[in-house]
Amino acid sequence: MRLAIMVGAKGRGSNMQAILRACKSGRLDAECGVVIAPREDVPAVSIAREMGAEVAVISPDESHYAEALLDILELERVDLLCLAGLTRLLPVEVVRAMPGRILNIHPALLPRHGGKGMYGLRVHQAVLDAGDKVSGCTVHYVTEEYDEGDILLQMTCPVEEDDTAETLAARVLELEHECYVKAIQMWIAHRYGIGRNASL
Ligand code: GRF
Repeated sequence: MRLAIMVGAKGRGSNMQAILRACKSGRLDAECGVVIAPREDVPAVSIAREMGAEVAVISPDESHYAEALLDILELERVDLLCLAGLTRLLPVEVVRAMPGRILNIHPALLPRHGGKGMYGLRVHQAVLDAGDKVSGCTVHYVTEEYDEGDILLQMTCPVEEDDTAETLAARVLELEHECYVKAIQMWIAHRYGIGRNASL
């Protein structure tokens, strides 16, 4: 089973790193074919290379963006595409080419606090403004709309009285790394049969 990880314009890459580590350690019964980044200079690119992963830099501003993505996914024989940190929608051609085979992670408990423009600290500020006592993260299937696909896995954490968007973001991010790896394990177990999810 081969996966690809696609990072966004900020490309911090911490979810990517968690997934790459899980592939290397054997916790995930998967190998990473390629990390796709929008620019050469995002931090995720150097982290991926240091970890021995293949990197493809494909700019969303390219005129044949969708084709370029589809080409690399086909070339690398990718079974599952994992998005981490994209702020724009994936081209519909890609979504349609891989039904049920694209996952994303969102740093809140969808369907709360999702949708266009809801990324980064804005999400955590919205959680604080709403007075939620619990937050967390969601791994969901990717569709043609923002944050609307079926939910595969959620994990929760408390919102503390004195939280700022930053402190809440840090707590949720730690949870994301665990949640994304578990969700991928679940996806593999579902797709390839029982017996592969022993450590769930
Ligand atoms: C994460 O908070 C994720 O939930 C969201 O974008 C952020 C990416 O962070 N979709 P990182 O690049 O994986 O550190």
